[in-house]
Amino acid sequence: MDTTQPTTTLSACGRDHACSFCPVAPSCPLDKSDHDRALVRARLSRVGQVVVVLSNKGGVGKSTVSANLAAGLAARGLRVGVADADIHGPNQSRFFGLVGARVRLSAAGLETRTFAADGIAHPLRVGSLAFLMEDDATPIVWRDSYKHDFIHHLLGSFDWGDLDALVVDMPPGTGNEMITLCDVLDDGGPPAAAVLVTTPQAVAQMDSLKAARVCAERALPIIGAVENMAGVVCPHCSGSFHVFPDAGLDAALAVEGVGKIAAIPLAPELAIGSDSGRPAVLDHPDGAVARAFAPLIEAVAGWAADDPAAAVAGGAR
Ligand SMILES: Nc1ncnc2c1ncn2[C@@H]1O[C@H](COP(=O)(O)OP(=O)(O)OP(=O)(O)O)[C@@H](O)[C@H]1O
Ligand code: SF4
Ligand SMILES: [Mg+2]
Repeated sequence: MDTTQPTTTLSACGRDHACSFCPVAPSCPLDKSDHDRALVRARLSRVGQVVVVLSNKGGVGKSTVSANLAAGLAARGLRVGVADADIHGPNQSRFFGLVGARVRLSAAGLETRTFAADGIAHPLRVGSLAFLMEDDATPIVWRDSYKHDFIHHLLGSFDWGDLDALVVDMPPGTGNEMITLCDVLDDGGPPAAAVLVTTPQAVAQMDSLKAARVCAERALPIIGAVENMAGVVCPHCSGSFHVFPDAGLDAALAVEGVGKIAAIPLAPELAIGSDSGRPAVLDHPDGAVARAFAPLIEAVAGWAADDPAAAVAGGAR
């Protein structure tokens, strides 16, 4: 008996990974033209909903929001995956304490690595390019065609299993990765929606909100926007102040037809949680950060797969 074969396969050939990873590819006589696409479709058919966390701007907190959103959804009992779509700066391995972890390839695909914590019934599954690199310091210099392939490998070759929600942490920008992801989702994928992340500053808004227009062009509903780094609470006197000037974010969002669903403070526990590999919403469930994330987690969890319109209250199409 061939124990490298999964008991129930998603692919016609029995190998649930991309042809480019396949040890028998050089001698494989099969028609490979539709293999990778069919595999992505089969994988996504086992995912309840896809949540795309994006912004046109770098460094505004997409990965931080993705990790804490995913952890918050998992703490509510959902089966959650985090797909790290950032090729140049894959951070989710660090945010979930998986730095240095590597994955094996079997006929079932690439292993996901898991994050378990008290209060999470189903360990989170994480898929990232970081698990495939020789070492964590390896810089990636890929042409756009490889970036296109990577999105397919991320969604199709990682063995996501059955998930209620797959959170996709996007790189900055609305280029190749975003277009490829939208194409994949349009190709019979599960219900999908976006969460837009921005900081209050005018320069961040200007860039971040471009992503809203791309979502509108691709008919990807936006569940809502997250204002990150929205003020600081002083740990000594509990007074609050703003680091970034208020540049009228609410009004700018209204122009795009997007509602703000959460305002996350600039908080040391978020930065510490990212570095230490434990999302802050889990470690301080009653703290200001968890309270700030609660409406976002609520909105995404409540995003009805069969009635997406109900979930985009205040959001745009
Ligand atoms: N609200 C916050 N409070 C404190 N630190 C934060 C907060 N949001 C993000 N950070 C920190 O800021 C840095 C950038 O955040 P993050 O990596 O999430 O941004 P990003 O948008 O994903 O960046 P990139 O565009 O490079 O992918 C990280 O070090 C993170 O820990
Ligand atoms: S090369 Fe592709 S089609 Fe052929 S066995 Fe491998 S994964 Fe399957
Ligand atoms: Mg990031």
